[in-house]
Amino acid sequence: LERASAAIIVNSMRTGRPVALVEGSTISARRTAASAALAAAALPSGDGRETGVSLIGCGVINFEVLRFLLVVRPEITDITVHDLDARRAADFRDRCSAELAGDGRVVRVAESAGAALSAHRLVSLATTATVPHLDLDACLPGTLVLHVSLRDVTVEGVLDAVNVVDDPDHVCRAATSVHLAETRVGSRSFIDTTLGELLRDAEPGPRDPARTTLFSPFGLGVLDLALAGLVLREARAAGVGQEISGFLPESRVAETV
Ligand SMILES: NC(=O)c1ccc[n+]([C@@H]2O[C@H](COP(=O)([O-])OP(=O)(O)OC[C@H]3O[C@@H](n4cnc5c(N)ncnc54)[C@H](O)[C@@H]3O)[C@@H](O)[C@H]2O)c1
Repeated sequence: LERASAAIIVNSMRTGRPVALVEGSTISARRTAASAALAAAALPSGDGRETGVSLIGCGVINFEVLRFLLVVRPEITDITVHDLDARRAADFRDRCSAELAGDGRVVRVAESAGAALSAHRLVSLATTATVPHLDLDACLPGTLVLHVSLRDVTVEGVLDAVNVVDDPDHVCRAATSVHLAETRVGSRSFIDTTLGELLRDAEPGPRDPARTTLFSPFGLGVLDLALAGLVLREARAAGVGQEISGFLPESRVAETV
């Protein structure tokens, strides 16, 4: 079975009544991947070219991350993947090669996390680790680590990096690496900025060429709702979905979101 399943109930902004029940795991995976790609776009490397990416954790989320990264970084030709489970890594390599590679792109398996970290200056972590297991010492200077799974990087790794988060209040809880770092130092002063602040800057500068930049997105429920609303509007326009009449106790005029 896939790790995640989800259902989203979309309610009317006008009346609060339920309007639609929408499958949520695809929405969650794609908004997660979209925010990782947005961070990569907002934090370009110093030389402006990103020709390789390493994906640690070969599951649903990193597949979507790769799909979205190839949109904002079409120049990526070299893809390195790593998983604790060698068979999952090999299957993932084959799927990426079949569905996303093309155009001369090459997908390789790295035998260790260290080898994957040092292969490229763009790295996405989407594992199911619950306890930090990676310092970022193996990263090349100027690497951007998209820390989607939130609990891989050691406190030392967090504190040595330039830290970008989506929302400090959200990410400083639930034993994420950023939360553990906050607990260790007693403040959030090591958080340098948020993705929102970067996007508000007219021209965000390149990331620090000498240090590792760590993006830790907790993932905001409001993004799932926004995307579910879009999916619902698109589904209606395309005439897909199943109308259930008489669901509410009294008959109601059809709601719009
Ligand atoms: N930040 C967000 O907004 C957000 C949103 C959705 C999911 N997530 C997180 O993304 C992560 C991945 O989710 P998924 O659905 O792709 O899971 P998945 O189970 O499909 O894939 C996870 C993969 O990680 C591998 N793995 C586990 N520990 C590892 C380690 N130490 N080193 C290398 N590989 C390891 C597993 O073998 C598995 O192949 C989860 O931790 C999930 O909570 C974050």
